[in-house]
Amino acid sequence: MRVIRSVKTMQRLVSQARRQGKRVGFVPTMGALHEGHLSLMRRCRRENDLTVVSIFVNPAQFGPTEDFKAYPRPVKADQRLAGKAGVDILFYPSDKEMYPDPYRTYIEVEKMTENLCGKFRPGHFKGVATVVGKLLNIVQPDVLYLGQKDAQQAVVLKQMVRDLNFPVTVKVCPIVRGPDGAALSSRNVYLTPQERRQAAVLFRSLQEAKEKIQSGERSLAAVVQGIRRRILKETSGKIDYVACVNAQTLEPLSCVDGKILIALAVRFGSTRLIDNILVQVR
Ligand code: PAF
Repeated sequence: MRVIRSVKTMQRLVSQARRQGKRVGFVPTMGALHEGHLSLMRRCRRENDLTVVSIFVNPAQFGPTEDFKAYPRPVKADQRLAGKAGVDILFYPSDKEMYPDPYRTYIEVEKMTENLCGKFRPGHFKGVATVVGKLLNIVQPDVLYLGQKDAQQAVVLKQMVRDLNFPVTVKVCPIVRGPDGAALSSRNVYLTPQERRQAAVLFRSLQEAKEKIQSGERSLAAVVQGIRRRILKETSGKIDYVACVNAQTLEPLSCVDGKILIALAVRFGSTRLIDNILVQVR
């Protein structure tokens, strides 16, 4: 595995590979790699000739009171894991390389960034869209692999790719969960053992909601209330939001129909966890 820190070198290597007719797959990450990331890398490797992974803790997507400084950066372990997953190129730029001074250009995806996490993390998706737009220009992949755990991010980035005509196919891969059902997250390391046990309640409450809908529940308010009640009863978490939205557009639903995304964000101390489940009705 080659580790590349410069934008120019990365662009040169990928251009070379593309000239040789290689299909390039790309997995963007912020490091602190876990099985969720590794599953994306393995799939990328199966489906492409060249697998590129980026590790960049993107300052532009963190709010001033968020955990940018504290975000885990286990560089050596990440390199070892990426190497074992069969990654060909690890792109690992510095902040300066990605945002040379002065930096003035951002990508803003409208509307669908205003609700769910966007409401609680103003500017977050502008930072995500900007960095992923830049990474797509640097890595020039044929396929971009994203995780369903960040459901809103995946919908926003698909919209960006479509609106700005990035020549890339976006593939969204399933959430990887621990044995207790809790979604794997780089932020799980911040949790106390008790909070980590409680984190599994998020998924159990989503599963229960899905089962209710599948058994005929047609009140969205009742579905949301059921989730909120269970989380408040069984955990010490503070709920940012629980919402049922259209899975493709993230718009609020007026009735239980089509492909529904039930999404939530819950804070355990300063650690914010997100999770979601998809329900297809008819
Ligand atoms: O999901 C993430 O880890 C980040 O938001 C991403 C897509 C790598 C952009 O920084």
